[in-house]
Formats: sequence, C-alpha cells, structure tokens
Amino acid sequence: MLPKITIKDQPSTNTCRTVDQNSNCLYLRLKIFRLFMPKKWFQNWFNSPYYHILYQQRNDEEAEFFIDNLCAYLKPGANSRLLDIACGRGRHSNYLNKKGYDVTGIDLSFSSIKYAQQFENSKLRFFVHDMRYLFYINYFDFAFNLFTSFGYFETEKDHVNSLKTFRKSLKKDGLLILDYFNREKILKHLTQQETKTIDGIDFYISKNIVNDKIVKSISFEHKNKDYAFKEEVSSFSFADFERMFKKSGFEIVNYFGDYSLQPFDECKSDRLIFICKKADV
Ligand SMILES: C[S@@+](CC[C@H](N)C(=O)[O-])C[C@H]1O[C@@H](n2cnc3c(N)ncnc32)[C@H](O)[C@@H]1O
Repeated sequence: MLPKITIKDQPSTNTCRTVDQNSNCLYLRLKIFRLFMPKKWFQNWFNSPYYHILYQQRNDEEAEFFIDNLCAYLKPGANSRLLDIACGRGRHSNYLNKKGYDVTGIDLSFSSIKYAQQFENSKLRFFVHDMRYLFYINYFDFAFNLFTSFGYFETEKDHVNSLKTFRKSLKKDGLLILDYFNREKILKHLTQQETKTIDGIDFYISKNIVNDKIVKSISFEHKNKDYAFKEEVSSFSFADFERMFKKSGFEIVNYFGDYSLQPFDECKSDRLIFICKKADV
C-alpha cells in the first residue's frame, strides 16, 4: 500500500517539499525509477541548446507583446501570484516580474531552469518540475501555459491530469491562460519538408500527421556531429479542449486567436488562446 501523500495549502520551495516526510522514501524510489526510464522526446529536445537556436524568433519581444495584451485584459491585482507552467528560459515570467508581479516559473528542462534562475529575485523564482505532478495548492491567482507547452503526452488521461494539477494550483477565483496552436490552420498549411539555416546550422525539418499528432523530425549536423530530434504534439481541436477542460473542472470564459487577442477564426488564426476559470464541481 502506498503511503499517503500530504500536501499543504501553502507553497513549498522545491518539489521535494510538497511531499510529507513519511513518503520521502517512496518519492526517492520513484525518482530513481524515472532516472532509468527511457527519456521522452520532450525531455531531450527542450533541454538541448539547439531548441533555443531553432526557435530563436520566439523571443522576449514576442513574449512582452503578448503579456502586455494579456495584462490589459486580465488586469491582475498588484499582489497577484502568477504561475508560468512550462516557462522554458522564463521570457514570460521575467517580463511579468518586471511589471511587479510575484511570479513562479516551473519547467521540466534542467538547463532552461538553470538559465532562468540567473534572473531570480524576491518575487521571481524558478523550479524544475513536471507539470503532470502536483505543485502548490490554492495558491495562484493566474496560471499561464504559453506557446504550445501542452499536448506532449501519450494519453488524454495524462493531459487531463495535468489540467487538474493546474486547477489545484489556482485559488478559487483563479484563471488559467492556455495558449496553443490553431490546428485547422496548421493542418491546412503544413509544409512537409523544409530547411532552415540559423546560426550557420542547416536544420532539416519534416512534418507528418501520425495518430492525430503533428510529428516534426529535426536533423542537422553541428561540429562534425549528427543530431536528430523529434517533436510530437497532439493536434487538439477546439472540441478536444472543451472536453478536457470539462473533465478537469475548468470552464472556458473567453478565447482568442492571436497574441494581440483578436477573436479566434478557425481558418485564419495562428493561435488558440483560452481563458478558463475553475468550474463549480
Ligand atoms: C515550446 S516550449 C515553451 C517554453 C516557454 N513557455 C516559452 O514560451 O518560451 C515548451 C516547454 O515545455 C516544457 N515541458 C515539456 N514537458 C513538460 C512537463 N512535463 N512539465 C513541465 N514542463 C514541460 C519544455 O521543457 C519547454 O521548456
């Protein structure tokens, strides 16, 4: 029988401390077990410096534009606590903190969190943490999951469980902001093969649809070494999100189609950005 895990209605300063002492042993065993599990694509690719080279146009400027528009819409109170789930190197977290908010960023990538931690201050902190597992409870006013930081898991259950942990991290009136790609537009304009040359590296990219996932294979050579990475992201539709939000106890209060928060248009919009509140369950 598994020991009971006790989690308190207050923040912990790292993920270990969300688990009570009696379950430390189990927790350690789980950590060791995970160490020997084959790594998933999202553990390898996002932790590599090449992800940041290939996606360098997804920069601070883009993040700041989006955050300015979100803040104008959401109007967070001065003392709001914000959670940036899958924060990467912290481009959104940093800017939210510059605006004066108390921000916590979590991400699975050790190298991204290490990079982000150089910006920490008394109102900005970063932790390595897997979004599928519980973090803080009833603590945040807003939880952000930005720039397609979802849709990586194999089953709907895993996605719904992640949403449930997002929900648990929020206060009663808290809001979730989830920013995903617009599947209809992506599928319509899918380029199957392309080469992108960035910082002297030729990235050969091929995209395919496999089992409702957009599978992107990325290969390149750098410093006489060959590399191959993969992205496998579920092509969730609006209806898929509606269903998963319902299952996880969220209610959609609004949705937008791009970073300037224009209305969503299934054919034309680049993004599908949801604003959700905790449903009464
Ligand atoms: C597309 S990047 C976006 C990063 C950041 N939100 C941004 O806009 O720059 C997706 C991020 O999700 C993180 N990620 C993937 N799986 C995760 C998981 N299970 N838990 C937490 N973070 C995860 C990756 O490490 C990566 O930093």
